[in-house]
Amino acid sequence: MPEHTKPLEIEDIGSNPAPRETIGELIERRLSRRAALGGLFGAAAAITLSDQLLASGSRALAQGVSPSTLGFREIAHQLGERDAVPEGYESQVVIRWGDAVLPDAPAFDPRAQTAAAQATQFGYNNDYVDFFPLPRGSRTATHGLLVVNHEYADTQLMFPGMGDDETSRLRASREQAAVEMASHGLSVVEIRRDNGRWAPVAEGRLNRRITASTPMRISGPAAGHDRLKTSADATGTRVLGTLNNCAGGNTPWGTVLTAEENFNQYFGGAAAKTGTQAAMYKRYGIVEKASYSWPQYEDRFNLDREPNEPNRFGWIVEIDPHDPDSVPVKRTALGRFKHEGCTHAVCPDGRVAFYSGDDERFDYIYKFVTARPFDANNPQANRDLLDDGTLFVARFHEDGRLEWMPLVHGQGPLSAANGFNSQADVLIETRRAADLLKATPMDRPEDVQPNLVNGRVYAMLTNNTRRKPEQVDRTNPRAANANGHVIEMIPPGAGTDKVDHAATEGRWEIFLLAGRPGVDAGAQYHQQTSAEGWLSCPDNCTFDAKGRVWISTDGAPSTHKVADGLYAADTDGAGRALTRLFYQAPVGAEVCGPCFTPDDETIFLAIQHPGDSKGSSFDNPSTRWPDFEAGMPPRPSIIAITRKGGGVIGS
Ligand code: FEO
Ligand code: CA
Ligand code: CA
Repeated sequence: MPEHTKPLEIEDIGSNPAPRETIGELIERRLSRRAALGGLFGAAAAITLSDQLLASGSRALAQGVSPSTLGFREIAHQLGERDAVPEGYESQVVIRWGDAVLPDAPAFDPRAQTAAAQATQFGYNNDYVDFFPLPRGSRTATHGLLVVNHEYADTQLMFPGMGDDETSRLRASREQAAVEMASHGLSVVEIRRDNGRWAPVAEGRLNRRITASTPMRISGPAAGHDRLKTSADATGTRVLGTLNNCAGGNTPWGTVLTAEENFNQYFGGAAAKTGTQAAMYKRYGIVEKASYSWPQYEDRFNLDREPNEPNRFGWIVEIDPHDPDSVPVKRTALGRFKHEGCTHAVCPDGRVAFYSGDDERFDYIYKFVTARPFDANNPQANRDLLDDGTLFVARFHEDGRLEWMPLVHGQGPLSAANGFNSQADVLIETRRAADLLKATPMDRPEDVQPNLVNGRVYAMLTNNTRRKPEQVDRTNPRAANANGHVIEMIPPGAGTDKVDHAATEGRWEIFLLAGRPGVDAGAQYHQQTSAEGWLSCPDNCTFDAKGRVWISTDGAPSTHKVADGLYAADTDGAGRALTRLFYQAPVGAEVCGPCFTPDDETIFLAIQHPGDSKGSSFDNPSTRWPDFEAGMPPRPSIIAITRKGGGVIGS
């Protein structure tokens, strides 16, 4: 979600009451010393760059050749009504907001929307994208299930006559609110590529819509706890819907994980200030006035009626996309916070580690490690693997060490003396538990994702304009960080075939510091990054088969006058951190969910909130992408980018 869409009172100002104040040694001093060595700029290289890498980078520079392994011709930064791909590539819309998902979906009519129709059509504001080849277990790259998150609703762009500001959300009628609820959640859509074109399979047997009202189960250590009980559910194990599904991930056993992020904004009521859970609400950014009209129409969003309902959100939800009748499960063992995504790596002993960022200024990076190994030959044994394991939070030490601290009831400060009477309490108030363990407050962690080629884990830290100079540390090295940065976490064994993602110690490094070189203080990339290759506000990422990182962005400061985009870079070798611009979105959009097919010949992107720029509305949008038809508002869409004539993307 870009910052300008957030109502003032819940703006993402950070709700961590006491972010650790580390008076960092000024990183620039170290950077300038390293720069003098003649390699990459600054911090990207500061801690670990090998002499060999320095030498090869310098050699390539001297010879005037790019050390990047990426072969596409970089596009130019732009800010326009249309999107752009490199020469030799083409993009197509696979599915858009309002397109049919279920066979009985009516044709999309943006002036006559109903909740019933929306519940059969592709939802709004697509974020996470995953591709599960069909038949199941194959590596097919032309037929599969597309799984997509629908994060939130932009009322002013969805409905006519709402004006051009976000307060329109509060003016949504009962029926409009119901449409918004149906536009949330996920879509599962069977897609196929024929004659080079991707298209949904209209009668796809597995096609499914999940919304803010779909029945779900709650499992794990917090299931059934009193704080999860409501008047509609005395068991504390059944809940309606999933909210603000941002990024996600999947499991080795073929399910998808969807992350509930800014769930706070749907709830409101006086109890936010006066209720017995007011302190907890505050830590999660739940305030008296919801951002949406929903509490007016449904008691479950009204804190004064259902004070425990928000405790049933902020979880990772596991969904089996291959069974449209399956009940989604909220896995409480993975903690409750504003989960951005949830990506995994299998450890040498078969246990599985899941990484997740808590996207708020001054919040933390987590990982969950299953107690038992994943069994590829016994699907039944994996069914509830996510209910049993250990949740850890990260502390980044100034000397480059990374420490993973377990969030286990009874250990250290996580005791009754601090109000934690059980592991359920620790999980329901994960943020407060992590505060007490003195985790490292980060610059808004978005995607945290393992690179399975080099074994390192990459964290996108999107920005944090509230960090003060006295709060700077080596991991978050810039005050008023408007452009964000990318760090690498390095588990023991990284670079070998035995990477220990379950380890409680590791190392970390900075990969790049975003922003426009020469304009934004401290921006650091490879020395040969071009005038088009710099980026701002990294959000989602993925890796191709060669281990190169593809980074999508969300929310470059308006002073940059560039749209969000997709950038690619080598992660190792002489072209490390040499980012190149591959795709640029239409005005107002963020780029989400980069996802390759198994052959790397298609990359799917979620183009979220196109036209969401200042003064833009349904009636007078800043773009009508992708249809460009009179009267048709901009439509969040999944696009597929391929090479003309075929071939591996970026090769
Ligand atoms: Fe929904 Fe953190 O982006
Ligand atoms: Ca974001
Ligand atoms: Ca995001």
